[in-house]
Amino acid sequence: MKPPLLRADAPSYPSLFGRYTAVFADHDALHKVLQQLREMSRIGASGKEFPPELRPDVLLFHFEEVLTEHFAREESVQYFGTLEAASPALAQTIAQLRADHEALLHATSRLIALSKDEARFYGLSAATLGLLEWLERHEREENRLMTDFLSGRPPEDDDLDSGESF
Ligand SMILES: [Fe+2]
Ligand SMILES: [Fe+2]
Repeated sequence: MKPPLLRADAPSYPSLFGRYTAVFADHDALHKVLQQLREMSRIGASGKEFPPELRPDVLLFHFEEVLTEHFAREESVQYFGTLEAASPALAQTIAQLRADHEALLHATSRLIALSKDEARFYGLSAATLGLLEWLERHEREENRLMTDFLSGRPPEDDDLDSGESF
């Protein structure tokens, strides 16, 4: 993939890039919990016993915490707020990303509610994997947001997916 062309008039946004660095650093914690959720889903599908740290009730609750923190950092004035103000062409993409955050958290809390009943532990794998795929699509869109901003290119009007099928 070709690197984005920097806008000749691109101003410097220290707080934007500081926040972007923090958002990017979140991805380590996010990556770890996503791996654990995949493992949890494998165990759920196999019918084996869950180790304590991979119990759906424990892990989904932790996932919700990580997601909530990550989304709040993204939605801050320094990050989404700065991008919206600097580039109105990105506002529609950002509105969709914000709506995704709300919907992803809503889907996560539905799974948490189901996981409170141990009898349902083994029925959560497919829904969990669906949620992870949706989150991955969301993250890809978000990565493109920064690339579009830096290049000054209008956002592509394509596959922003609200994940409504979940
Ligand atoms: Fe996001
Ligand atoms: Fe993100």
